[in-house]
Amino acid sequence: MPDKSTSSEPTQAAAPETVSAARKIYSIVKYGDPILEKPTTLVTKFDAELEQLTEDMFASMYAASGVGLAAPQIGLPLRVAVVDVTGGKNPEAKIVLANPEVIHAEGEKREEEGCLSIPGFRGYVLRPQFVTIRAQNAKGESFEIRGEDLLARAFCHEIDHLNGVLFIQHLSMLKRDLIKRKIKKLRKQGEW
Ligand code: NI
Repeated sequence: MPDKSTSSEPTQAAAPETVSAARKIYSIVKYGDPILEKPTTLVTKFDAELEQLTEDMFASMYAASGVGLAAPQIGLPLRVAVVDVTGGKNPEAKIVLANPEVIHAEGEKREEEGCLSIPGFRGYVLRPQFVTIRAQNAKGESFEIRGEDLLARAFCHEIDHLNGVLFIQHLSMLKRDLIKRKIKKLRKQGEW
């Protein structure tokens, strides 16, 4: 996982409000909360509030050193996610996915995967090597984007979240049950 962003402060000469605006850092919902396993509702309002929400989601994701974050993970049953596989290093790599859907998938790749809602646990998940998705940005504009490897994996992982599916559901029952048992134990100890 990439390190937390420590991007430079805006210079005094050019201090745009959008850069200096304080972002809300959401706490991330952990496995066991039923919201993570429920489907989400379509985004229909593309307004300033949505734009603020997605920027806050990026900030929350960077704060947690993640490369993707879906709205259910901050307790919102809304069909929106954010992805940045550079971990904040490249502003152009920020992708807002409102109402995303996979329109093409190709190849297969098995790699280790984790989730901010299941901290401390990872597992190998088979995903397409390439995916093309169609989504809307925070302004409601439709776009298509093709992702390869980690980006394709992030798209699939986040779209899964929006359908109430977690990566552990792609693991073998044995591996999944092992993780669930360990989480149960952690919860009993008040560490989850
Ligand atoms: Ni996740």
